[in-house]
Amino acid sequence: MQTYLVGGAVRDELLGLEVEDRDWVVVGATPQQMLARGFTQVGSDFPVFLHPKTHEEYALARTERKQGHGYHGFSVYSAPDVTLEEDLLRRDLTINAMARSEQGELTDPFNGKKDLESRELRHVSEAFKEDPLRILRTARFAARFQPLGFRVCTETMTLMHTMVTDGEVEHLVPERVWQEIQRALHENTPCTFFQVLRDCGALDVLIPELASEADFHAAMNALNCVHANDGSAAERYAALLGRLDERTCVARSKAMKAPNDCQQLARLAAAFTPVIKQLDPVQPSAGTLLELLEKSDVWRRPERFSQLIQVLGCSLDPVDRQLLEALEKAVVAASDVDPQTLIKQGFSGKELGEAIRTERLARIAQAASWSPT
Ligand code: CTP
Repeated sequence: MQTYLVGGAVRDELLGLEVEDRDWVVVGATPQQMLARGFTQVGSDFPVFLHPKTHEEYALARTERKQGHGYHGFSVYSAPDVTLEEDLLRRDLTINAMARSEQGELTDPFNGKKDLESRELRHVSEAFKEDPLRILRTARFAARFQPLGFRVCTETMTLMHTMVTDGEVEHLVPERVWQEIQRALHENTPCTFFQVLRDCGALDVLIPELASEADFHAAMNALNCVHANDGSAAERYAALLGRLDERTCVARSKAMKAPNDCQQLARLAAAFTPVIKQLDPVQPSAGTLLELLEKSDVWRRPERFSQLIQVLGCSLDPVDRQLLEALEKAVVAASDVDPQTLIKQGFSGKELGEAIRTERLARIAQAASWSPT
């Protein structure tokens, strides 16, 4: 039996990057031999084992053939006669299809090293087509390695385009898509991910609301800005979708199965945007400001409100951004209202709620001498 370091670890090592996860391929072994050596088997789809000490993943060399649509539906063949080259052949990109033996020798049957040097993301074989998730992975690698000068090569872009036209992207399950999107949002240049998806047509299927040139560029500007501010995943997501109308934003978030914090922040950004656009920048209505604050639940969720301000600071048109200052002033003014004082004055129940609101409205209006309307 022979063990090889494969995939991302070999790629990153050749690029001089820090290697975080190491994946290994074992050639010429059976599951029984692995178990006898103290490995634990994980994953039911194909034989992958965890090393008893390092807990790194060791997979038996395997070939895969597609049987249905989407990510599922692979028939996996794993046996001691599967060669290293056969295992590398089933992989996505040439730069991910290299192996290094324990003696340090590189196996590179698909010229991954050359593609690393010429900064090209290139599919290994037509088998790339068998897994549409690879379109998103390729876009993600483009977003990660863009600062190093990598790009998707023409042949691979053409292949991805064909896969989209063949309807393959529609078969991806939302959970897998979300995993890729979430990771992509934190890559070096997240916008490259969406640009690649757009170039091959996949974005029209995954987030059709960003199809138009204007909507796409506005979303990318917002995302770039949040990225530059090192925003959270929810902020990045909200920057992406926060300019849609609220109902469309909610529907898309649900369909994508984004986590709740992402969904909520995007929804708030989408709800705030048209209201802020209509506010008078010189004398914004105190009533509308208070309604916005109430909608954001700022008193119970102050951190989320700050996130929202960050997102809007990136996604609003520059002319509307000055209203964020008015919103922040309104929060400070309204936060001075102390419910305890009102309780001592004898307010309770529904009346207390109304008294708090009236007082908040007065303070907001007074803060910038706006008239409460
Ligand atoms: N792989 C593949 N097709 C997929 C998923 C994985 O061909 N849909 C192969 C690639 O050879 C990849 C390896 O499995 O390099 C390990 O996959 P993974 O750990 O997901 O990716 P890495 O390349 O290690 O990248 P990352 O740095 O993002 O972990």
